[in-house]
Amino acid sequence: MASSNERVPGDQPAPLPEIAIEDRHHLLIEAVHDHAIFMLDPDGHVTSWNTGAQRIKGYAPDEIIGRHFSAFYTPDDIAAGKPARELELAGAAGRVEDEGWRVRRDGSRFWANVVISAVRDESGVLRGFAKVTRDMTERMRLAALERASEVSTQMQVARENEQKRIARELHDDLGQQLTALKMSVALLEARLKTRDEPAAPLGETHELQAQIDAMAASLRRIAADLRPPLLDDLGLCAALDWLADDFTRRYGVRATVRISENAGDIAEFSATTIFRIVQEALTNVARHARARTVDVDVVRTGAGCSITIVDDGVGAQLDAAPNARSFGLLGMRERVRQLEGSIAFHSTPGAGFRIEIDVPERSLLAGPNDMDASAR
Ligand SMILES: Nc1ncnc2c1ncn2[C@@H]1O[C@H](COP(=O)(O)OP(=O)(O)OP(=O)(O)O)[C@@H](O)[C@H]1O
Ligand SMILES: [Mg+2]
Repeated sequence: MASSNERVPGDQPAPLPEIAIEDRHHLLIEAVHDHAIFMLDPDGHVTSWNTGAQRIKGYAPDEIIGRHFSAFYTPDDIAAGKPARELELAGAAGRVEDEGWRVRRDGSRFWANVVISAVRDESGVLRGFAKVTRDMTERMRLAALERASEVSTQMQVARENEQKRIARELHDDLGQQLTALKMSVALLEARLKTRDEPAAPLGETHELQAQIDAMAASLRRIAADLRPPLLDDLGLCAALDWLADDFTRRYGVRATVRISENAGDIAEFSATTIFRIVQEALTNVARHARARTVDVDVVRTGAGCSITIVDDGVGAQLDAAPNARSFGLLGMRERVRQLEGSIAFHSTPGAGFRIEIDVPERSLLAGPNDMDASAR
């Protein structure tokens, strides 16, 4: 009986036929699909071409071999003498790396990372250049998108801070002045009363007081629209309750908010974001829904927070072409994206409108923490 470490005949894979070293290199270079790898002669004419080069630049080997590599550069770069300069630099320093626009066979441009290395023989004579090009367009597009979304978050934060500041100014400065004015008018009225003059303009002072009250109410409403004071002072639950009451009073549509008790620990950026989403959803209900009721549910689970806003109004055809000037639903999507959450709209004509949002736990407790403390 064969012991366990004895080899059974036929156990060994059949030896592969020997591959010459040049062929191995060729196979290796051909196997690379996401890099254009090719050779240039010392004057810059293409002498070899791999599959990656064909994929990235669009030329078949027989269309490009023998042509000068300046075909890959933009007319501006060619006019500025860039191809020749890069070969010169690679010849002098051994290697040159560059990022910039290059041109495909069909004339389209791509953002390329290019490395050109000088190839010399044993005696140091320049035999040509090895050129490796990577298409970075997609990566650059993603980086640009990331930057744009960072900028949009920062702008959102800046806007909230600015609104907070204006709301405080309105409340503290103009509000105080109105209060003082009302007191002066009340004093004036009291003095007029003691004089007991029949012509005392008491009706006018009454009128003035009523006007001042109306101004104070408008001012409070504008300030609260800009930044509900409750959001900063008492948190999301109180602010949403206030929003629903105010909405019911203003539009006569019954708004109900149910919110988990433990939703109070949601950090300021997320709380502001959720508040603004519900505010926009309610504005839509007032403008479009012709609803009798709207229900807002904020449920805090261990995994995060889910927010549902449902009305019993006329609904909408959601697959209709979006209006280029409608930003409400888009803005909600953007805000939810900033919280790394998900949002879905469900509606059919005649069957109300439903918005479902899920925000992960990590976004509830942290966020752009540079919501300026000085603006509070
Ligand atoms: N609760 C709702 N009930 C019925 N239709 C709605 C509701 N919410 C949104 N819609 C429909 O979806 C469309 C897009 O809403 P969105 O908030 O994006 O834009 P808008 O309210 O028209 O404009 P704005 O940019 O000022 O918000 C609305 O025009 C409306 O037709
Ligand atoms: Mg809207």
